[in-house]
Amino acid sequence: MSKILVAPSLLAADFANLQRDIEMVNQSQADWFHLDVMDGVFVPNISFGMPVIKSIAKHAKKPLDVHLMIVDPDRYLKTFADLGASVLSVHYEACPHLHRTLQGIHGLGMQAGVAINPHTAVELLEDVIQDIDLVCLMSVNPGFGGQKFIENTYRKIEKLHKIIDRNHATTKIEIDGGVNAENARALVNAGADVLVTGNFVFSSENPTQTIEDLHGLFV
Ligand code: DX5
Ligand code: ZN
Repeated sequence: MSKILVAPSLLAADFANLQRDIEMVNQSQADWFHLDVMDGVFVPNISFGMPVIKSIAKHAKKPLDVHLMIVDPDRYLKTFADLGASVLSVHYEACPHLHRTLQGIHGLGMQAGVAINPHTAVELLEDVIQDIDLVCLMSVNPGFGGQKFIENTYRKIEKLHKIIDRNHATTKIEIDGGVNAENARALVNAGADVLVTGNFVFSSENPTQTIEDLHGLFV
């Protein structure tokens, strides 16, 4: 099993103490910062945008995994590259020319991710799987943290894993939404490589320890 990555979502951080929470992630065993950008159109919520990410990037010492929940993301690929994103994920449902978008992300030196909603079939990615570094499988409907994990995600992970294998791709599978200590092991057993976790980490008494415990499940 390759190393399992844990990516705390700052959506669940205390925005009035953002630097403190960023330092917590820096000091912890977390691997990436997961940053959820919402535009109020693609999803029924607005989170944060460029000025906030610029401030986060100043303090963050780990790769920025940016999850765009916005319409027409092509308009902003360069902006997020300039802000320091390492991985940039766009939504399948927001990209009529997904292959071109992926080329654009790679051309800017970032890893290309594709996020898919719970109702979107993983089979739709087969013809571009070799161009995708990360598939972000939404295990809740995007827009809000703290929602209940959708159980059908396990089936999607297994199907996606087969697609990746039969195309000899190196795509990582990221699970986003409702991840916690109860489902983490089963998700990894099904084939997940990256676990996004928001409320489970930030609402816990000792977030650093919670991240360490999550990692501890896979050593
Ligand atoms: C939901 C976001 C998630 C969210 C995860 O739209 O994409 O990244 O922050 O939060 P939890 O872990 O609380 O479900
Ligand atoms: Zn996300």
